[in-house]
Amino acid sequence: MKGLRVGVALCGSFCTFGQIMPQIRRLTESGYEVYPIMSQTAYETDTRFGKAADWRKELESITGRVVWHTLADVEPIGPRKLLEVLVVAPCTGNTLAKLAHGLSDTSVSLACKAHLRNQRPLVLAVSTNDALAGGGINISALMNRKNIYLVPYNQDDPREKPCSAVANFGLLCEAVAAAYDGEQLQPIYG
Ligand SMILES: Cc1cc2nc3c(=O)[nH]c(=O)nc-3n(C[C@H](O)[C@H](O)[C@H](O)COP(=O)(O)O)c2cc1C
Repeated sequence: MKGLRVGVALCGSFCTFGQIMPQIRRLTESGYEVYPIMSQTAYETDTRFGKAADWRKELESITGRVVWHTLADVEPIGPRKLLEVLVVAPCTGNTLAKLAHGLSDTSVSLACKAHLRNQRPLVLAVSTNDALAGGGINISALMNRKNIYLVPYNQDDPREKPCSAVANFGLLCEAVAAAYDGEQLQPIYG
């Protein structure tokens, strides 16, 4: 996988950022060239899970690259064929809905649209409280679409949050490698 260009796009599921950073490091240590992307929400929102500037700094330090976060930053992914694989991790309910319905008004949704135009693999690592409710139809629609793959995911707290599901971020690297080979990593539900 040495030299393969992988975009990693973070949406505003802030509680998962701490789990995702080590997986991004794993990608770089495996020899991938990692290009960091953030949604505007992820890029600028301070939350109880940390300050936006600190997350940006960590991401730039792991990847050695400036974070793309505007429409103009990500649009060239299409015409210049900048990435072999794009991963959205975490992928919020909001971004899932945009992707399922063809909207591209955020840095992450436009990055996906630009990348898919090149018929290259897009990997989604869902993290949303409505995955088994309103968001379910969007996940199902995307699963059924060409060149889209899922990081295996499961309910994360069935008792307290029965409609919530989160990707198994520990399988991010494996899901990327499988998607590059045109395969969905199995089992999706462990
Ligand atoms: C502290 C905090 C935590 C959030 N966690 C999640 C989450 O885990 N999953 C989710 O789908 N949305 C979550 N949201 C809501 C999203 O950030 C919001 O829907 C936003 O519009 C997403 O934009 P994006 O998809 O462009 O990143 C959270 C918001 C806040 C402030």
